[in-house]
Amino acid sequence: MALQSDVDDAEPLDGDFARAVLTGLGEDAKNIPCQFLYDARGSELFEEITRLEEYYPTRTEIALLEACGSEIAALAGPGRAVVEFGSGSSRKTHILLDCLDDPAAYIPIDISHDALGEAAARLKQSYPGLAVHPLHADFNQGLELPARYGACPKLGFFPGSTIGNFTLDAAAEFLADAGDVLGANSDFLVGADLRKDLDILLPAYDDRQGVTSAFILNLIHRINRELGGDLDIGGFKHQAVYNDRLGRIEIYIISLVDQVVEIMGRRFALAGGERIHIENSHKYTVAQFQAMARDAGWASEHVWTDRRDYFSLHYLRRNGG
Ligand code: AVJ
Repeated sequence: MALQSDVDDAEPLDGDFARAVLTGLGEDAKNIPCQFLYDARGSELFEEITRLEEYYPTRTEIALLEACGSEIAALAGPGRAVVEFGSGSSRKTHILLDCLDDPAAYIPIDISHDALGEAAARLKQSYPGLAVHPLHADFNQGLELPARYGACPKLGFFPGSTIGNFTLDAAAEFLADAGDVLGANSDFLVGADLRKDLDILLPAYDDRQGVTSAFILNLIHRINRELGGDLDIGGFKHQAVYNDRLGRIEIYIISLVDQVVEIMGRRFALAGGERIHIENSHKYTVAQFQAMARDAGWASEHVWTDRRDYFSLHYLRRNGG
């Protein structure tokens, strides 16, 4: 049994996967939202992606965080409660907590109950004096922070370019909503992936070893495991394309043949070549991201990029206190 920590369940999330799959496969443009990629196996595979040679974002962002830690600490000042949106593996959390001056609390928010409990337990071991308050919630839906931290200034933390999963409109809305959740005197540290040559970008989403393909196609296994689906894994493959107009990588599962699949007693017809949209991964310019943040009520205090301009870390401060 893995180390676990008490998790604050803001809402029941069971049943969401079934609903999303049945709804998404019933639409004309078939889709399954990318948050469902992260069951236990999917989270493992994503960790493996972050170590691939082709997948530059994770190691670039970690190097940036390590390099600018003292500047972040100076901007944040002492006594911040760190609120992490989608806490995942918490490797980056360690770097942030290590550089900050006397953080008041750590509040990770995640949709995976187990990942959240394990990450929180590990952090408590590393920082025995730190108040850790994991919140099991979907940050795409309205959420409220525990009242007991109401008086501390917050530092939101949203690394990994997870914000790239949102459409541009939804990203702007997320930033505005996060401002309301984090409250007065809050700052927000956000990682955003940058536009770059396709010969760097495309292999990051279609690696030679096929780990990304396994990560995406794990959704097919998950449908079979959890929803009693009868899908044949050999009938599907993953595809990553760059949409130049929208500045984003789009990831699909393609049906290789005409087929009818059955999930929870419902049948769905897929034509050969038909695509199920799984994920968008937006690539920003620094100026575009700053403009979006500004419109959402955040001033850009500082931005760090690596030497090759692959990735950006934005330190935002909420307007109007
Ligand atoms: C976790 C959303 C940042 O978009 O790069 C990686 C997810 N999908 N490979 C990304 C992902 C396929 C990743 N984010």
